[in-house]
Amino acid sequence: MRLPLGTLVAILPFYLEAVLAQAQGSGKTTRYWDCCKPSCAWPRKGNSPQPVLTCDKNDRPLSDGGNTKSGCENGGNAFMCSSQSPWAVNDTLAYGWAAVNIAGSNEATWCCACYELTFTSGPVSGKKMVVQATNTGGDLGNNHFDIAMPGGGVGIFNACTNQYGAPPNGWGERYGGVTSKSACANFPAALKAGCNWRYDWFQGADNPNVNFRQVACPAAITEKSKCVRQRDSIDQTPTGPKEVPTWTP
Ligand SMILES: *[C@@H]1O[C@H](CO)[C@@H](O)[C@H](O)[C@H]1NC(C)=O
Repeated sequence: MRLPLGTLVAILPFYLEAVLAQAQGSGKTTRYWDCCKPSCAWPRKGNSPQPVLTCDKNDRPLSDGGNTKSGCENGGNAFMCSSQSPWAVNDTLAYGWAAVNIAGSNEATWCCACYELTFTSGPVSGKKMVVQATNTGGDLGNNHFDIAMPGGGVGIFNACTNQYGAPPNGWGERYGGVTSKSACANFPAALKAGCNWRYDWFQGADNPNVNFRQVACPAAITEKSKCVRQRDSIDQTPTGPKEVPTWTP
């Protein structure tokens, strides 16, 4: 079929959008919870009018325009809010947040973008999780989702000692965190549910692989992070209800 030039010009933007629309591919996961202010919580990362919400030492939301020094630094008082802990939507779907590195992309593009992960290995194989990118990481490889879960290990940085009086290397191992659900029982109240999630919905999975594709964020996620990307290669209007309760079996 030959289309008139005018038609081609008219449909070209839609064609390009379809091609460029979504980051997708296969990748790996790890886990962390370092209590630090996530990178996308600084102003003007990504294209959201508001940076990712952070909290003070007592887990109270800051309204600082993203300008408070990170709790990872001396004297800093911006920490990751416990409300950015993962939760189960139903038996096969969870919502949460992650530090991200997408091959061939950059922080400006992924800050506050959402990705639907389909786990492809381990006990959660076949389950899905939608994560919003709130962070990046110098130690992340390509197509890497470092899923935020309390007790997942502090990694390079540790603000959990400042915020919650955690041990010097965080709870459990510095990389990987606690090693059993029983450890979650001694967690600060605000972090218990997120720690338990790892052993309930996530079935104690140990860094499962994923297939991923970019999606518009669920409103239930952006409602908690306050970070909403403006239209870019996809329509970023948040989808679904603003509140999605935690599913319990
Ligand atoms: C889980 O929730 C999602 C989103 O509402 C829905 O598409 C899916 O069918 C649900 N799965 C089950 C097993 O209920």
